[in-house]
Amino acid sequence: MLRHDILYLLTAQPDEIVSGQKISNQLNVTRAAVWKQIKILREEGFDIEAQTKNGYRLLSTPLALNEWVFKQALSTQALGRVVDFSDELSSTNDRAKELARQGAIHGLTVLACRQQAGRGRLQRQWESPAGGLWMSVVLRPNLSLADASKITLAASVAIVDTLQELFELPIGIKWPNDLVHKGQKLAGILGEVVGEWNTVQTLILGMGVNVNFPREQLNNTFPATTLQEILGFDIDLNLLAAKILENLEKELICLEEKKFDELKSKWTKRAIGLGEGVRILRGEDVIEGTFKGISIDGALILETGNKEITFSAGEVKLRSKKGYF
Ligand code: BTN
Repeated sequence: MLRHDILYLLTAQPDEIVSGQKISNQLNVTRAAVWKQIKILREEGFDIEAQTKNGYRLLSTPLALNEWVFKQALSTQALGRVVDFSDELSSTNDRAKELARQGAIHGLTVLACRQQAGRGRLQRQWESPAGGLWMSVVLRPNLSLADASKITLAASVAIVDTLQELFELPIGIKWPNDLVHKGQKLAGILGEVVGEWNTVQTLILGMGVNVNFPREQLNNTFPATTLQEILGFDIDLNLLAAKILENLEKELICLEEKKFDELKSKWTKRAIGLGEGVRILRGEDVIEGTFKGISIDGALILETGNKEITFSAGEVKLRSKKGYF
């Protein structure tokens, strides 16, 4: 694409002015055609300085989702190598499922600027205004169904590690996959199996992070926050998405190599409420005990009296006895 070729020329000499004549010679197009593309790039959010006699200089790239910027930030082998970008979707998980049924390859990533009907766990709605990171990945890993449930834990760890690496931001994980900052939810994960695991072994991993918008845009019943509120500035969604995919790929490779202990210990270090008194809500039932940790398949281990009971994520909700979550 001509626009992308122009961007390559501008980034090849960062901070320098590249003459319009040079661009038009190298790409074999008129200077007017170059100018037309520069105007489109500016509309996409690229800040490009134009000096009448001298040429063009790229000052900054957009923070909003942009395929070119995303690809530049990406350093994975498989995840995100094929992307499906949309301005608006009902749900990126639904789109990823549809593409998986049509034969999408492992790692295909769906990204949307906003979702009209974003979905959360336990049939909840997930509010997805513009400025958030709404992303779903088609995974066809070399894992058994029992191991597949660990993938959502891997996604929590990948997001936590990314926020630590990029912003030194400490994030806690509320079992199974709620990412929480100072008691307020920042991100969530929705893993869904496509068809029968035994035949297709495909999982859609949906990740939602509240990023560049104020929390007032969310009408949630639970306390929520956004990175904009926490950091005080807007961040590059492309870089965030690319780094999450990079960390997720590392965790998946570990799982495929049967190294669950490493993932479990990373998850456990960030777990909220571990060792504390908790309540488990299962329909109308409330079961009280001490949160001891997670089992080999990611289920919660609760100690009650002198026995241990495990609960898997699909069936129960976790509540603190002290009332922090
Ligand atoms: C939860 O905490 O309940 C899970 C929230 C998952 C939200 C993400 S946003 C991208 C993907 N598409 C959806 O419809 N849901 C997930």
